[in-house]
Order: sequence, then structure tokens, then C-alpha cells
Amino acid sequence: MGALAQKQRKQMNLPLRPAGPDTVRALLAWYDAERRHLPWRYGPRRKADPYRVWLSEIMLQQTTVKAVVPYFEKFVARWPTVADLAAASQDEVLQMWAGLGYYSRARNLKACADTVAAKYDGVFPPTEAELRDLPGIGPYTAAAIAAIAYGHKATPVDGNIERVIARLFSVRQPLPKSKPEIKRLAATLTPSKRAGDYAQAMMDLGAQICSPKRPSCLMCPLQQDCAAHAHGIAETLPIKTAKAARPNRYGHAFLVLREDGAVLLRRRPEAGLLGGMLEVPSTDWGDVLPPEKDARRAAPVTTRWWAVPTPVVHVFTHFKLELMVHRALVPVDATLTFWAEQERCVWVKRRDLHAAALPSLMRKVIAHALEETSLEAAE
Ligand code: ADE
Ligand code: SF4
Repeated sequence: MGALAQKQRKQMNLPLRPAGPDTVRALLAWYDAERRHLPWRYGPRRKADPYRVWLSEIMLQQTTVKAVVPYFEKFVARWPTVADLAAASQDEVLQMWAGLGYYSRARNLKACADTVAAKYDGVFPPTEAELRDLPGIGPYTAAAIAAIAYGHKATPVDGNIERVIARLFSVRQPLPKSKPEIKRLAATLTPSKRAGDYAQAMMDLGAQICSPKRPSCLMCPLQQDCAAHAHGIAETLPIKTAKAARPNRYGHAFLVLREDGAVLLRRRPEAGLLGGMLEVPSTDWGDVLPPEKDARRAAPVTTRWWAVPTPVVHVFTHFKLELMVHRALVPVDATLTFWAEQERCVWVKRRDLHAAALPSLMRKVIAHALEETSLEAAE
């Protein structure tokens, strides 16, 4: 761009040049020097293993890179290929996943591994359309695998990329309405040669420089091309339509400790929240806390209960849960009150709890119930 054109853009309060191929060149140069070293990446210009890309992308949905890395390493050490994962049992996968949250991802992970092993001979298909047909793979993940693992010109757009694009092009329409426009703009920048590196470079820029609250525009390789920066509104973008407040739910949970040191757990139904995971038996979770007398009728054993004075609080995506926790110590031959659910119940030794398919919420409930106790003698 000539000096005159640049001067005009400056007078109009536009960036020195509009985002385009030069922007991508600057971004990729920055990525080559500054990219994050993550265990599923094989380095610039190298296509990665589709299995590792897929596994990392599923884990990274709704979860931070920092939380994912140790899980990713555990998974690939135990199951180095998608065929190995397909050969594992659902419960082994859920156990390894425990603590990462959003457990439907773990069930889809196993279903997807099974399909890839059976239908594609253990090789992930390369096209976005075929990838999207696999369990747990939506448009974002399909585009990420096609670009990062196969080098196809596909454009995954996650939250980080959304933010960078909204700022680069000064998109002022609020999310989620602006999603299609942001996607279109991101695709206009996707290079044919290094589409995977472009996507990951945008992710890294969004995580390290173009952060949500305080973007480091002074250190940003795209500063000269950035419309939001030129207008001085970087940190106000993207605008988001206010979300509905998260409702509260309430319930009572019952921790039964047997005299031999085993704890009573129940498997949740396959469908729905925390599906297939183990839980501390509880009442339904409703809009109001049922009175303790009513709740105890739903308890798994008829015995003397001791209530922990404070509830366990856990925040899910769509609601906040407060569980009152009740504890009882019972003899080894205690009988359960809910006969219909016997086959869903298991007694797990306290020392084996760490390996059980228990979501974080239930680990909190158990810790809460066993805290401030004099029950150690039972172990
Ligand atoms: N978030 C989602 N996918 C990612 C990736 N491949 N690298 C870094 N962060 C990510
Ligand atoms: Fe983000 Fe600022 Fe860089 Fe623009 S200049 S892309 S707002 S960090």
C-alpha cells in the first residue's frame, strides 16, 4: 500500500492496512517463533497425528489447555492409537476421564473410536463431511481435524479465534448473532498452504496476546492491521448478548459408609447429565430444597443420619447445585431401601475411590462428608 493510501486510512481512523494475506504472513511468522509447545503438536509445517488432534480437540472443548495436558498425556500413554482406545471398555474410558467434566464427551469419544476402528480401519477420514458424521464431532472439530491433521483448507472457529476476528475486523454485532459473519471473515484469511498452522496461530494469539480483558496490542504482530485497535475499542469486543442467569438447584446426598470401609455408590443412567458416571445417591435436584424429613425417605438405608452443616456447591454450565450432605455408618449386612436400583449400586472401598469413574462434584461430596469426622477408624 502506498504512502498516500496509508495516510488516508489513518485520517479515516482505519488500520494501516486491512486484514488480508499480509496479516496471515505476519501471524504465521509469529507462530513459528512464539507458538506454544503442546503434546499434540508436531511443529510448524508438519501435519499431526489425526488421533492426537481429535483427542486433544475433544478434550479442549469447554476445558483449558492447562487442565487438558495431563489428561491428554495419560490417554495417549495408555491408548497410543484409536484402535487401542476402541479396545478399551466404556468404564475404563470414563475412569480416565473423571475430573475433566462434560462426560458426554467421554461417551462420544469411545463411540467415535469404535466407529473409526470398525468403519475406517483405524484411520480418521480426511474430509469435513465424513468427520462430521462421527459421534461427538461437530463442525468446529471436523474443521480442526481437516486443517490441523490433514492440511486441508478448512476454518475451525473457536472462542479464541472468534475474539481475534471480531477485533481484527471490528465486528460490532453481538455474539451469537455475529457467528456466521465471523466465520466468513475467518475463512477469507485461511491460507491454502498452512491452514492448520493458521488456525492454531489464531488460537495461540487469542490465548497469549489478544486476551479477553486486556489484549496486549503493543506486542501484537497484527496491530497494524487491526480495526478494533485503530478505533481504540479492542477490549470491548466481541460484544455478547447477556446470558440468562444460571438458576439454582437443590438436593440431599447420602453418603453411606460401611463398617468395613466401603462407600455406597450408584451408577447414573446413561442418558443425561453425568451419564454413566458413579454418584453418591441423592434425591432429585429441584428448585427448592426438600425438607429433611421428606428427603430421608429417599435415603438408601434406614438408619441414623448425621447432616454436614454446610452444603456442597457445584457450578454446572446451566445451573448451580447446592447439595446437603448426610452421612451414616452402617454394618456390613445393612440392607438397601431402594430394591429396584440394587443392580445400579456398588460398594467401593475408600482406598479404591481414586480410580472410580467419579465426577468432580461427587468427589467433593465424599470429601465433604468424610471431613470433620471421627470415622477414620473405619478404614
Ligand atoms: N484449543 C482448541 N484447540 C486447540 C489447539 N489445537 N491448540 C491450542 N488450543 C486449542
Ligand atoms: Fe487483538 Fe490488539 Fe492484536 Fe488487535 S491489535 S488482534 S485487538 S491484540
